[in-house]
Amino acid sequence: MAGGSIVTQVGGKEYPGNFTLFVAMACLVASSGGIIFGYDIGISGGVTSMDSFLSEFFPSVYRKAKEDVSTNQYCKFDSQLLTLFTSSLYVAALASSFAASSLTRTSGRKWSMFMGGITFLIGAIINGLAVNVFMLILGRILLGVGVGFANQSVPLYLSEMAPAKLRGMLNIGFQLMITIGILAANLINYVMSKYDWGWRVSLGLAGVPAFIITIGSLCLPDTPNSLIERGHSEQAKEILAKVRGTKDIQDEFNDLTTACEDSKLIKSQWKDMLEPRCRPPLVVTILIPFFQQLTGINVIMFYAPVLFKTIGFGDDASLMSAVITGVINVLATVVSIVVVDKYGRRVLFLEGGVQMLICQIAVGVLIGNAFGTSGVGELSKTYSMVVVGCICAYVAAFAWSWGPLGWLVPSEIFPLEIRSAGQTVNVAVNMFFTFIIGQVFLTMLCHMKFGLFFFFGGWVLIMTIFIFLFVPETKNVPIEEMVLVWKNHWFWRKYISESDIHVENVEMTKKSHVKTP
Ligand code: BGC
Repeated sequence: MAGGSIVTQVGGKEYPGNFTLFVAMACLVASSGGIIFGYDIGISGGVTSMDSFLSEFFPSVYRKAKEDVSTNQYCKFDSQLLTLFTSSLYVAALASSFAASSLTRTSGRKWSMFMGGITFLIGAIINGLAVNVFMLILGRILLGVGVGFANQSVPLYLSEMAPAKLRGMLNIGFQLMITIGILAANLINYVMSKYDWGWRVSLGLAGVPAFIITIGSLCLPDTPNSLIERGHSEQAKEILAKVRGTKDIQDEFNDLTTACEDSKLIKSQWKDMLEPRCRPPLVVTILIPFFQQLTGINVIMFYAPVLFKTIGFGDDASLMSAVITGVINVLATVVSIVVVDKYGRRVLFLEGGVQMLICQIAVGVLIGNAFGTSGVGELSKTYSMVVVGCICAYVAAFAWSWGPLGWLVPSEIFPLEIRSAGQTVNVAVNMFFTFIIGQVFLTMLCHMKFGLFFFFGGWVLIMTIFIFLFVPETKNVPIEEMVLVWKNHWFWRKYISESDIHVENVEMTKKSHVKTP
């Protein structure tokens, strides 16, 4: 999934390999996977704030939104059907990621990516041509099925194709592509809002990256890991040599084969996951995506234009503000890429949490002050700019902390043999809570009013304390030494027994990598 890297074969070893055409193609397809996911996140909020779209599909919301400012601002977009248009994608993604996980294993990564691409393509076409709400939601569900398949197979494909030393970078690179997809959606909405049929182009353009994934997956070979797993060892060897651009691949090939045999011995990753030694990563992997969604980020990503309209911005200004938050989101993600291995995960998590909390309190106070609980009022220009400024500072804080780290940390804390199941848990929890937030936000805004910002602020406080107490630093910790991180942690140590530790030079490692908070 977004940024999820599943390192299946190497234990910190590096093998010879070049940046070949295959790797470049794999990156292109993977970027399209990230872009399309981001595009789907960003597109629906802008479209649902377009008059021509609302009047055609959601006339009652349109009428309410057009009433004068004396009506309650907080409730004018409150419609379950409208939110279903946004959030149906995430339930579909959640359900299909389980099917995708078995197709990815039994038929290979390539066909799973193809399935993702083709369902995306059909979904985008149905959405672009929609004449009723049924077609809109059907299209969103197909896009969701595509997200489920692509997010399962693309990161896996990428981590198996790329040379080992590129994996970490590609991991956050995938998150960067998501933010670029969100920005592209915001920009396209901004341009297209000027035309009555603009929403058709906005929705239909999701077909472009979908087309790239579909064609790309047909042209690309399957990964050596997947070929070995399915009994095509000779072909796997040929492909590995081609992908790495060198004949010097015997070591890596042997390790891949051993890793494959090992993974066949493990009957059930799911059962292993319930062992005490996996309790720390399991708890962290469930809580991190849960908390990531409770930062409230998708309120901004899905509904920024609607939110800005709610607080009194004009059509153009709302969409423009969404573009501005989109740009901040991309730039702050780049900051994260640059500093994550230098300053570590905890510093970013903690700083991001404090900054988000301050901004949420500020936005809650500002909006509460302007609209009170009745939801009636108007914002002056300067006042609105201060609100947008706070929202931007909040987005930046998210984008260099919980955004990328919400995917990176769960992907690096499980023992090697159960990493892919760990990844499935991470994706499923994330999709589930993305759906919940998408579905209930507009109703929550209507009922909790400006208190909603304090609600998310409260969660940010809890998650920041959680990170401080329970999430150890994982920067530069080799996969096989992860167990020591837990063993040295004040709380988690009780779950790790001496027999779980098979690492040499424990003392040295303790000094060099492993610090408890
Ligand atoms: C989250 C998405 C969010 C995006 C914003 C991702 O890490 O999982 O839910 O929309 O960041 O950039």
